[in-house]
Amino acid sequence: MDTLPAPADFVRIVEVGPRDGLQNEKTLVATADKVELIDRLSRTGLPSIEATSFVSPKWVPQLADAAEVFTAIQRRPGTAYPVLVPNETGYDRARAVGVDEVAVFTAASEAFNRKNINASIDESIERFRPVLERAAADGIKVRGYVSTVLGCPYQGDVPVADVVRVARQLHAMGCYEISLGDTIGIGTPRKAADMLKAVAAEVPLSALAVHFHDTYGQALANILACLEVGIRVVDSAVSGAGGCPYAKGASGNVASEDVIYLLHGLGMRTGVDLDLLAETGRWLASRLGRETGSRVGKALAAA
Ligand code: HMG
Ligand code: MG
Repeated sequence: MDTLPAPADFVRIVEVGPRDGLQNEKTLVATADKVELIDRLSRTGLPSIEATSFVSPKWVPQLADAAEVFTAIQRRPGTAYPVLVPNETGYDRARAVGVDEVAVFTAASEAFNRKNINASIDESIERFRPVLERAAADGIKVRGYVSTVLGCPYQGDVPVADVVRVARQLHAMGCYEISLGDTIGIGTPRKAADMLKAVAAEVPLSALAVHFHDTYGQALANILACLEVGIRVVDSAVSGAGGCPYAKGASGNVASEDVIYLLHGLGMRTGVDLDLLAETGRWLASRLGRETGSRVGKALAAA
């Protein structure tokens, strides 16, 4: 039986480069470059671009200019520009600059959550409750992230039951979509597919996304396995930028260019102009003083 996903299906790419990609950069990236990055990404047709984070600037100094960035970007009609918020302070800051979609984030591992947001999983969910309530009243969409779904840098193995529980809670609280993050990129396809199926038994597949990092080079294989299960929303970062500052050893996100090449090769639709995106990835890499981390970005430049 052919298990590959149906051609012509639409896959929504959630571009996380400006946030997940840049948050781990040691050298401060100029605000103007962040704005240019988002504006360039907007022109590629990406449907959702996570623009920045309204977290504590003491924890993530790189994104201390969140308000300036968000105010300066040119928002393309039809494109979503979600931002990360860890608490009500973040929500207030985001709303003050006109954000209309936010993302809350927690983890399936207690140890990771403590390092990342200084709270237990249950405490973090309680912190989100007022954010979700206010967002519902304000007509703001809320996405939810569950990190460390296939392993934790501090705890090691993460039981699938913990991933399912946290995803179910976020969905029940009102998150319209739950992104399942392999924060340290340790997963392999069967584990990824089994984890996804277990979550999909409790949360509709149409309300789930996958978020892979490529530490062990498994991200595209994991995405294909999840497409076969039926996932149609994939997070990725242009030029494979990124990593989480609170996840030791985590490498970059899977590169958006590579994911889109895979999807278009399968005959699936994304609405994204791959050449323009690859050019943007190379532009970003040059601003960061390195080669693009996208294999497709390199291949297209050489073609
Ligand atoms: P805390 O130190 O426990 O909390 O931090 P606090 O409430 O005591 O706040 C400390 C200071 O920050 C106070 O200021 C607050 O006012 C201020 P002070 O009194 O010391 O001057 N503060 C804020 N300032 C601006 N915006 C805010 C805010 N909140 C408090 N929103 C806190 C707790 C959650 C704030 C902190 O731990 C934090 O900001 N963590 C964010 C860490 C982060 O961004 N990590 C990376 C993103 S997650 C990720 O990458 C994974 C993901 O990509 C999925 C995956 O890959 O798996 C999503
Ligand atoms: Mg991430």
